[in-house]
Amino acid sequence: VFDSGVGGLSVLRALLAHLPDVRFIYLADSGNAPYGDRPPEWVRDRSHRVTAGLCKAFQPDAIVVACNTATALAIDSLRQDWPALPFVGVEPALKPAVALSRSGQIGVMATRGTVSSPRFAALRERLEAAHAPRAPHFHALACSGLADAIERDDGPAIRQLSRRYVGELLAQAPAGRPIDTLVLGCTHYPFVA
Ligand code: DGL
Repeated sequence: VFDSGVGGLSVLRALLAHLPDVRFIYLADSGNAPYGDRPPEWVRDRSHRVTAGLCKAFQPDAIVVACNTATALAIDSLRQDWPALPFVGVEPALKPAVALSRSGQIGVMATRGTVSSPRFAALRERLEAAHAPRAPHFHALACSGLADAIERDDGPAIRQLSRRYVGELLAQAPAGRPIDTLVLGCTHYPFVA
């Protein structure tokens, strides 16, 4: 299981709850965090190096990419390079958000890498098409610096950035149709939900 830092521990917690007998190895790539504002090629290259390192040291049965950014930018090429190894990724929970939202106005907080990726665009388009003509509206915002503040456990920065980004998102909704559901599309964010 790997992430740029502590974020993937939110995924590991769920994995341990469901699969108590499985042995997990968690790699926090803290020395290279955050991934979110790095160029896509960099995130791809880093994810390949981390996977190669895990394979060499532990011969895992599967890899969980516990990072929305690395999933968005690297999981396709990881699957290509290790065709016999199962990769499980995490993506912003747009589908559950559609089921929860009454106004159809959904905010998505994630890293720049995630929100600007073709994979995220495709996920969004798939859901919009599936729910046409009453398609939900996704307001996606790149929350630069937030994962980093959480990684550093910097309380004042976390509060300031959270207020700013949630405020910016809520302001995007059209009059009379408020955003009623927020997707925390980065594995660091649940720690400060
Ligand atoms: N936790 C990661 C994610 O889910 C990346 C955070 C970062 O390193 O910027 O996107």
